[in-house]
Amino acid sequence: MTPLAFPEGFLWGTATSSYQIEGAAKEDGRGPSIWDDFCRLKDAIQDGSDGSVACDHYHRYCEDVALMKSLGLKAYRFSIAWPRVLPTGRGAVNPKGIGFYDQLVDELLAAGIRPFVTLYHWDLPSALHAQGGWTNRDSADWFADYAVVVVRALGDRVKDWITLNEPWCSAYLGYEFGMHAPGYQDRVLASKAAHHLLLAHGLALRAIRAVGDANTRVGVTLNFEPNLPASDSEEDRQAAAEAFDWQYEGFAEPILTAAYNQRMLERMAGAEIRPGDMAIIAARNDFLGINYYSAKLISAKRGVVYDDDPEFTRMGWAVRPAGLYALLMQLHRATRGQLPLYITENGASFADQVVDGRVHDERRLAYLRAHFTEVHRAIQAGVDLRGYFVWSLIDNFEWSFGYQQFFGIVHVDYATQKRIVKDSGYYVRDVATANAVL
Ligand code: FCB
Repeated sequence: MTPLAFPEGFLWGTATSSYQIEGAAKEDGRGPSIWDDFCRLKDAIQDGSDGSVACDHYHRYCEDVALMKSLGLKAYRFSIAWPRVLPTGRGAVNPKGIGFYDQLVDELLAAGIRPFVTLYHWDLPSALHAQGGWTNRDSADWFADYAVVVVRALGDRVKDWITLNEPWCSAYLGYEFGMHAPGYQDRVLASKAAHHLLLAHGLALRAIRAVGDANTRVGVTLNFEPNLPASDSEEDRQAAAEAFDWQYEGFAEPILTAAYNQRMLERMAGAEIRPGDMAIIAARNDFLGINYYSAKLISAKRGVVYDDDPEFTRMGWAVRPAGLYALLMQLHRATRGQLPLYITENGASFADQVVDGRVHDERRLAYLRAHFTEVHRAIQAGVDLRGYFVWSLIDNFEWSFGYQQFFGIVHVDYATQKRIVKDSGYYVRDVATANAVL
């Protein structure tokens, strides 16, 4: 097989988030976040665990950066814990908190790894939640102020900024379905949160540009679960094209078109959308981050089809690599090829076994290869895709699933904190080194 070469300079990396890996929840002045609180609720987390220790990355970041370097990775997407930097969300900066990220960034740059920094990956300071969290319109300003603090501290070295990770999940899993912190089940509050998150993104984008330099780039990471036709028939294609795509219509569409469509407006009844908001939300991004794990199959006769899948991951998500190609083409068309794209997350959880100090995770490797191949196909078709971050570098705290899901290309033994590179990790190393799908 001839390797499928990627464009020169294509960035191969991995992604993580603060609460999922750092631990050290009470150290060096970090304030509590809504995830610390949520984990204490009865039955909120499947295995009753929390992120207070996680992968102990806070103390082991040098080892983890060395690991990335050994895997030939050229970029790393991580998030900043807002309550480390501003323990109560606003006001005085905690020098030790920002100091941790300062050192992490230096360590990455010394290893030749480009940092992509997410400002919000779900760990809202509890003190801000006490004031309504994202349901309070002021949250958009709180977030922009926090963004400025971080960019002032790290912006001389960090050039790539992601405002929010998956605001769909923050709003709807957090406030409508009760599955994520803060665990609410209230559609109106969720709609308010969704709008304020978009506003927060727009205001932060502006603020970051104002304090950043000419090389500063800002974008947002959205999660997608596109609708694919269940067959090639005309009626299935039409059904898929018309089916509600909540993730896209709720977030990508307002950002790209400065408007919510009619069905989103109906769904978001109760959110307060003021004149001028949409212009802020639709400010030009320098790039768009895409998180892709699966897609929905739509049939005209049967609606959403769940049972036609060849394979599911441990999360119960259908393996549908072709959905990634379809999504990239959709975004390429919607942005007329004018917006650089990154895959900021893609990966799979499968049960792993350590045998003689190795992890032979063929299924994860096959998942990644299939998705890399679809990405290559999209680039060949003209999509301006600049990089690909595998979720995740290491096994970690998978939110309400606790430590029972394994997305890492590196295994973590939580009792000893020992890291073992899985076969998929060596595969990613080889792909990154060759800059080609092997
Ligand atoms: C995404 C999250 C990430 C991780 C993966 C599996 O929704 O952004 O933190 O949980 O799913």
